[in-house]
Amino acid sequence: MKVAILSGSVYGSAEEVALHVKQLLIDAGFEVLLNSRNNPTLAQVQAFAPEAFLAVTSTTGMGELPDNLLALYSAIKDSLPGAWRGLPGGIIALGDASYGDTFCGGGEQIRELFGELGVHEVQPMLRLDASETVSPETDCEPWVEDFIKALRQ
Ligand SMILES: Cc1cc2nc3c(=O)[nH]c(=O)nc-3n(C[C@H](O)[C@H](O)[C@H](O)COP(=O)(O)O)c2cc1C
Repeated sequence: MKVAILSGSVYGSAEEVALHVKQLLIDAGFEVLLNSRNNPTLAQVQAFAPEAFLAVTSTTGMGELPDNLLALYSAIKDSLPGAWRGLPGGIIALGDASYGDTFCGGGEQIRELFGELGVHEVQPMLRLDASETVSPETDCEPWVEDFIKALRQ
């Protein structure tokens, strides 16, 4: 099964998580699209013909998506490819609960986008709170195991 990872990161934490999860998915036998730093273009994602989506993104500003995910996010939102309707998806959101209302706002924006796309979340969004953890890559592992199980069903 082909999984497209949409990753957004400002300082590198979410990117490290995305790279770690990419390896976990490859070890589990999945084919993965993830461009480090620069996200793939919409055309590249479409050419990959994803069968599932995983978003791994931090939050910046006041609940905003990182700059390096914005172009792809906007392109997807503008075109809402019909071929992706009904695909399974999951979201790992990195944030900091001390930001209050905008905690994991970037992930929330992806949830809305998945809703518009008709991509259904196979399990609830994982929120990784930077004020509580220093090891988001290992903290996400149980969630990723469940995500893999859900994709195999
Ligand atoms: C300028 C700035 C603004 C932030 N705004 C938010 C926010 O609105 N909501 C939130 O949950 N986290 C916010 N954060 C916390 C980051 O999302 C969190 O530290 C995350 O782990 C950073 O991941 P990254 O290294 O991939 O960018 C902010 C961090 C910074 C430095």
